[in-house]
Amino acid sequence: MTRVFSGIKPTGHMTLGNYLGAVRQWAEVDQYRGEALFSVVDLHALTVEHEPARVLRLSRQVATLLLAAGLDPAVCTLFVQSHVDEHVRLSYLLECTATDGEMRRMIQYREKGARARAAGESVRLSLLTYPVLMAADILAYGADEVPVGDDQTQHVELTRDLAVRFNQRYGQTFVVPRAVKPEVAARVMDLQDPASKMGKTTAGTGGVVFLLDEPEVVRKKVMRAVTDSGSGVEYDPVGRPGVANLLEILAACGGGDGSGPAVLAEGYATYGALKRDVADAVVEVLRPVRERHAELAADAGYVDGVLREGAERARGMARGRVDGAYRAVGLMGRG
Ligand code: TRP
Repeated sequence: MTRVFSGIKPTGHMTLGNYLGAVRQWAEVDQYRGEALFSVVDLHALTVEHEPARVLRLSRQVATLLLAAGLDPAVCTLFVQSHVDEHVRLSYLLECTATDGEMRRMIQYREKGARARAAGESVRLSLLTYPVLMAADILAYGADEVPVGDDQTQHVELTRDLAVRFNQRYGQTFVVPRAVKPEVAARVMDLQDPASKMGKTTAGTGGVVFLLDEPEVVRKKVMRAVTDSGSGVEYDPVGRPGVANLLEILAACGGGDGSGPAVLAEGYATYGALKRDVADAVVEVLRPVRERHAELAADAGYVDGVLREGAERARGMARGRVDGAYRAVGLMGRG
C-alpha cells in the first residue's frame, strides 16, 4: 500500500496559501491514497529564533486546524513530531550519511542563513541540519510519496540521495520516496506582494489571509489587494501578477465551476467586481473550516486524544525501521 507522509511547521498562523496549496489536498485526496501520515513538525520550528509559548500555542492550533480542514483520524495518522522519538534518533544516523557540503548547498539554508546574518543574528546549527531531520521524518515511515510544494523539492531530492546512499552502504533499509505535487496546485501569492508566496512568516500581514480571519477581515484584505496598472481584467501571470493571483484564488475557491483563471477573467470588466467575488468565494471556503475549528478548540481533550493516539500509531510504524537502521550501521542492539 502506498504510504504518504507530509508535515507542516507550527511557525505561524495557517494561511489561505497553506490551505489551498496543500492542506485541502491532504484532506480531500492524499489521506485516502493509501496509508497517510501528517505531522505537525514542531522540532522544525526551533531552527530560527522562537518563542516557546508561541510554538506551543501554534502546534495545538495547527493540529486543530488540520482536523477542522478534514483530516480524519479514522483514515490517517495525525501526530506531533516531537512525540515520536524516532525522528531524532534517525536524524543522527542521517547526519552520519550526509556531507556538510551537501547541506550547505541547500537553497533554503543559504537564503535563510544569509538573511539572519544580514540582520546580525546568529544562525542556529539546526538550520543547517534541518533537511536531514526532514529526511528522517520521511524515511522513518518508509513513505513512498511526499506531497509538498516546489520550495521543498530540493529537500525531498536530498532525502532520496540519503536513502540510496544508506541502502548501498549498509543494506536495504529505506524506501526511496518521491515528491508529489498537488493535482490542483494553487500557488497563492501575497495580496500585497504578488511576487512572494503567501507565507505564514511574512513580515507584513496585510497581504496574508489567515484561516481564522473573521469574514470582514478577509474582505478587507482582498479588497485592498494590489492590482496592476492597466485596465480590464486579463489573466497574465507575468505582466499582471496581482490580478492573476486573484483569478487563481477565485478558481481554486470554486468560482466559475472549474473553469480556469483565464476563462474566469473574461467575466470581469473591473478589478472591483473581481475582488468582490474573490472575497465572497474565500469567505465561503473558509467558513466550514472556521466553524469546525471553533467546535474542536472548545474540546481540547479531544484534540489531545487524537494526537496521543496518532503518536502511538506513528511510533509503531517507525520503530522497527529505525531499530533496523541502528543495527545496520553497527550499533549494538538493546538486546
Ligand atoms: N520542510 C517542510 C516545510 O517547510 C515541512 C516538513 C518537515 C516536511 N518535515 C517534512 C514536509 C516531511 C514533508 C515531509 O514546509
